[in-house]
Amino acid sequence: MPELIDQQATFALGVCYYPEHWPPARWPVYARQMRELGLQYVRIAEFAWSRMEPTPGRWEWDWLDAAIESLAAEGLRVVLCTPTATPPAWLVQAQPTILPVDREGRVRTFGARRHYDVASPTYRAESRRITRAIAERYGRHPAVVGWQTDNEFSDHDTVLSYSSAARLGFREWLGERYRDLDELNTAWGAVFWSQEYSAWEQIELPNLAVAEPNPSQMLDFRRYCSELVVRFQEEQVAILRELSPGRWVTHNFMRLTPDFDHYRVAECLDFVSWDSYPTGGVSFSTLSPTEQLAYARSGHPDLVSVNHDLYRGLKGGRSFWVMEQQAGQINWAPSNPLPAAGAVGLWTAQAWAHGASVVSYFRWRAATVAQELLHSGLLRHDETLDRGGAEVAQLDALRGLPNAEAPAAVALLHDYESLWVYDEQPHSQGARYWEQFQLFYQALRRLGVDVDIRHPQHDLSSYRLVVAPALQLVGEQRAARLATVAERARLLVGPRTGYRTPTGRVHEEGQPGPLAATLGCKLLNFDGLPPGLTVQVGQHVAETWAESYRLTGGTASHLYSSGPLAGQPAVVVNAGATTLGAWSATLVTEVLEALLDDVRVPIVRLPDGVRRTRRAGRTLWQNFTERAVELPDGSRLEAVGWRLDG
Ligand code: GAL
Repeated sequence: MPELIDQQATFALGVCYYPEHWPPARWPVYARQMRELGLQYVRIAEFAWSRMEPTPGRWEWDWLDAAIESLAAEGLRVVLCTPTATPPAWLVQAQPTILPVDREGRVRTFGARRHYDVASPTYRAESRRITRAIAERYGRHPAVVGWQTDNEFSDHDTVLSYSSAARLGFREWLGERYRDLDELNTAWGAVFWSQEYSAWEQIELPNLAVAEPNPSQMLDFRRYCSELVVRFQEEQVAILRELSPGRWVTHNFMRLTPDFDHYRVAECLDFVSWDSYPTGGVSFSTLSPTEQLAYARSGHPDLVSVNHDLYRGLKGGRSFWVMEQQAGQINWAPSNPLPAAGAVGLWTAQAWAHGASVVSYFRWRAATVAQELLHSGLLRHDETLDRGGAEVAQLDALRGLPNAEAPAAVALLHDYESLWVYDEQPHSQGARYWEQFQLFYQALRRLGVDVDIRHPQHDLSSYRLVVAPALQLVGEQRAARLATVAERARLLVGPRTGYRTPTGRVHEEGQPGPLAATLGCKLLNFDGLPPGLTVQVGQHVAETWAESYRLTGGTASHLYSSGPLAGQPAVVVNAGATTLGAWSATLVTEVLEALLDDVRVPIVRLPDGVRRTRRAGRTLWQNFTERAVELPDGSRLEAVGWRLDG
């Protein structure tokens, strides 16, 4: 395998571009303007299948040759995409079974994008065919430095597949996993409601059941669909490796999406990318209405950075790209405010500080046609430089910064299987896996602490504090890993840790199953609190969820002081392990402060909306509020501003 030709050692900028939307006469002009703006990378050909292959087997590459040449002539580096998110109309007409089927069992039609069924063997063959064709043509082109597979696998709810191909595939997958139906019946607890199976053909997809589906079946269905994405992408990557030696391959993931196991999907990639739209993130968040307004134009720092940290963590700390960075108004939120002046620079600086090696803006020129004509580009519709483009032109201080990787002292553990079982049965209106995760993540970020997000299987040996906010699935092996952490460092676990076995059953010996010895306690009762109903832990108010423990060796450091759990432990300490059972931001902060002090990680209490992040020996101060703030050292930071120290 040749060396990767494009290991980006210093921070660079790029742009997403659709030359097929514009007259070829403009291409050389755009390429020159891109270079003059300081951009180095250009991602193209993402949705261009109908232009590459206008009718079956008739390839038209001249336009793409010319587009690539125009970029190469300015020294720009080209990122090509496999255009599989948009199978053309002729293909859908010829092969209608490639269309996806939704949860209600309806076939989704042609007319937008992602109209393919990831379970369809026919589509998988088509995906390999188009990938081979484009890789044969451009795989060794000197201007092509890397590839993006498809586009945002989880967009538009297209991962969970309910087609007949998926039904057959699911049965086969289960057959390989369990071999024997008795095992499956046991794993799923199928005795409940007489769900026991006596033939594999009796197993249905979990979408049209009369009541809620069996959660263990749902967990396996999610695992199966996730593996479909893994295989779909692996097939493309194998072809790219064969025909495009020395080029890297990435995929552009989305903001905190649950639909597949991103760690697995990232395995065959060289590095990970994600698409960052901070104002959209606020619109779809559970921030209070007041906070949504406060951060409407700048995005909320933690809702953005949790993704940077997650995606940096997918491959154990490797730097990542922001493949699509919002640079003006978007078009897909209920309302789409203009970003505040300075926001594009702030988002770019923040991305670097959290480990990005390249930030690439979406998109070059605003579309004058079709679905996204209200979305911004670096250029307006009329080709004048838009507000975001003008900010990009001012980012000299960021371009060229070192792309060093630097592990933090604190890790937060995360896995998709725990997420799936959690959100399948939240048991309390506001309880969601990511919300519970954010409770701990945000508390750490408000204390100015840099964190890594890691899978429990990753190497955890360098961390002084490991926080597991919501690891619901805990088997013997995972419990043993956590026990090692508690012996060597400090471990903090959140509510509902170790509720279930890896097949989604509850541990027969009660929760937290095999973790009980490490935590020194067992679950006593849990209380799913509706909005507005709270319980107290001393002066701390808990909402959404409260659980109490029976001590089996540990010591209670906090007791509930009101509600049905009054007098029972809310926080238990057992040597290196702490268990915290109540959703309370102030309680989480108090417990974290004590643990951070214990392991000598310095904290700084930051004003609302202000964050500190360190990378490569520098400190980036960020102000996501629309007013100037005073930093802990007494200096002033402008509204929606940033400062790089060191
Ligand atoms: C992304 C997508 C892009 C574009 C963009 C608009 O999710 O990958 O193709 O649609 O949203 O904000």
